[in-house]
Amino acid sequence: MRTAVVIGASGQIGRPVVEALARDGWAVTAASRGGGRDAAWGEGVRTVRLDRADDGALAAVVGGGCDLVVDVIAYDAGHARQVTALADRIGSAVVVSSVSVYQDGAGRGFDTLGEPDGFPDYPVPVTETQPTVAPGEATYSTRKVAMEHELRAACDELPVTVLRAGAVHGPYSPLPRELYFVKRNLDGRRDRVLAHGGRSRFHPAAARNIAELVRLAAARPGSRVLNACDGDTPTVAGIGAAIDAVMGVETRTAYLDGPPAGSVGRTPWSVPRPVVFDMAAAERELGYRPVVSYAESLPETVEWLTGELRGRDWRAAFPLLAQVYPDLFDYAAEDAWRTA
Ligand SMILES: NC(=O)c1ccc[n+]([C@@H]2O[C@H](COP(=O)([O-])OP(=O)(O)OC[C@H]3O[C@@H](n4cnc5c(N)ncnc54)[C@H](OP(=O)(O)O)[C@@H]3O)[C@@H](O)[C@H]2O)c1
Repeated sequence: MRTAVVIGASGQIGRPVVEALARDGWAVTAASRGGGRDAAWGEGVRTVRLDRADDGALAAVVGGGCDLVVDVIAYDAGHARQVTALADRIGSAVVVSSVSVYQDGAGRGFDTLGEPDGFPDYPVPVTETQPTVAPGEATYSTRKVAMEHELRAACDELPVTVLRAGAVHGPYSPLPRELYFVKRNLDGRRDRVLAHGGRSRFHPAAARNIAELVRLAAARPGSRVLNACDGDTPTVAGIGAAIDAVMGVETRTAYLDGPPAGSVGRTPWSVPRPVVFDMAAAERELGYRPVVSYAESLPETVEWLTGELRGRDWRAAFPLLAQVYPDLFDYAAEDAWRTA
């Protein structure tokens, strides 16, 4: 039986990754600090506690060797080295990176979003040959690039598939952008405002689709870098409508033609230019077909979000989301804008 170790197994991406590999016949060791397990995993899935902050911890879990390591939570070159150092004991690896590594022709990317005219003007769609930011220690994106470079440098000894994920969504998300619409619906807010005419597109990536890419890459070891996104890129207005349909509510939307007015009209997808990634390489190299569309993925996400919010402030339920998007639910500003 082929053996796999998944690092970060109990998170939003790790859960369906373990499930997909186990279903495909892999003997999976699911590693995380807490050693958590998902109810959907069969008894054949082994859980282990692993804290990758301890450099030797992965070597202990891999032991005499395994066919595959899936690293969901590699954030820098040091994490990559933890994997490549075991090249003689690992058949191949799949490592999750991010689409935030890309920059446009003017050097703009996710790191320049806060600067005047800092929003990137990417081609539509962005292929994997698009330049990336330089590797470095400064930001999430530069560290991800450094991580990718470290893996590429070892590709003669260890075949590695790097998956550059888009806006990840699904149950167990620590950054559930969908909450923007779900909470408004739960709060009975039927009037909403969307900037940029509601036409913004920011490519989503269902955790289940990323898991499918991991499953396919695991079956065909090789050294490659692939975008990891859904098959469709709905507009933000389309996302709102799809969530309304799942929740059975009807809403009214006012549109701002241009950027948000302060927090009004600003959602996690409200980008001034499209951010869309080409999935042709994944189709060509791995035969990737998304296992869910954006809309099909929503019911379990909405159900999970609704349960997590029950009796809790959203900031307590989703501290990372509150940190990244502090004014996601500024209802007072919306009401003031509407009555102005
Ligand atoms: N969210 C997005 O929109 C987005 C976009 C692009 C790329 N990504 C990438 O997606 C990945 C994050 O995956 P995710 O969303 O599935 O994360 P997640 O839901 O936060 O899950 C993280 C997992 O890693 C485990 N973990 C955390 N620290 C650990 C450590 N020191 N040692 C071992 N295990 C540890 C956690 O369990 P314990 O707490 O029990 O350890 C959990 O199983 C990252 O590579 C990120 O760059 C995310």
